[in-house]
Amino acid sequence: MALDEIHRDWDVLGAADPLWAVLTERGRRGPAWTEEEFLATGRAEVAAAFDRLDRLGLPVGTGRALDFGCGAGRLTAALTERFDEVVGVDIAASMLAEARRMDRSGGRAVFLHNTAPDLALLGSDGFDLVYTDRVLQHLTPGLARGYLAELLRVLRPGGVLVAGLPDRATVPLFGAVARTLPHPVLRFVQRRVLGYPAPMRMHAVPAAEVAALVRANGGRLVDTVAYGADPVWHHVRHFVVKGGAADRPRPVGRVRRR
Ligand SMILES: C[S@@+](CC[C@H](N)C(=O)[O-])C[C@H]1O[C@@H](n2cnc3c(N)ncnc32)[C@H](O)[C@@H]1O
Repeated sequence: MALDEIHRDWDVLGAADPLWAVLTERGRRGPAWTEEEFLATGRAEVAAAFDRLDRLGLPVGTGRALDFGCGAGRLTAALTERFDEVVGVDIAASMLAEARRMDRSGGRAVFLHNTAPDLALLGSDGFDLVYTDRVLQHLTPGLARGYLAELLRVLRPGGVLVAGLPDRATVPLFGAVARTLPHPVLRFVQRRVLGYPAPMRMHAVPAAEVAALVRANGGRLVDTVAYGADPVWHHVRHFVVKGGAADRPRPVGRVRRR
């Protein structure tokens, strides 16, 4: 599955039903999310992440944040309540149009379109916080690894990366099928059987692999927390600090439920 195919599919999803494409809860198609409900989920998620950072003793500056794969701006909006400037980057112009339409930040949010397999449009060491959730899982593992390295590059030394993605399928057979199913078959099942406007591929990246990748790119994986009750995927949120400039956090090794 190539990046231009991912680009095309997310543009279709963003044009058809952007809020459901971001939060695919049962019964929420239609469109059935209200903007208030949708944005409230982002506020709750970001508040939980900041609680965790507080408990880990990881301070975060309040200057600039990046929301990678910002979609309709659910997390960007929540981050604008905590940062002077938040940059939302997405591959789908249709999603960015929705994010701009719902933006009530009074100029704190900036939305950028990026269709490249890297973040060359952003300079190095520029963000206090980099946040990404529900994005890397929809990419091939190779693309996800490349973007993770880029997310660390654009983070300032001592800055924090929060990255949410599944670390495994709860049913191993399902994970293997998701990994190996040819894209045309997945496309057929999701579009014709499930009625999706376009397919959404899912991949897990094991936590140990994320930890190694983070280490190789100058970061330190401080904590990994499981969340949600997805019957198919085990979702985790990784908390990473770049370099050694931050206060030393309490070491936490195991994946735990919040
Ligand atoms: C499920 S949505 C999540 C949106 C947002 N992170 C949230 O949680 O509200 C996934 C988003 O990732 C975007 N995306 C997928 N691949 C991307 C890429 N290579 N670069 C940037 N954005 C990407 C999609 O266009 C879509 O808006």
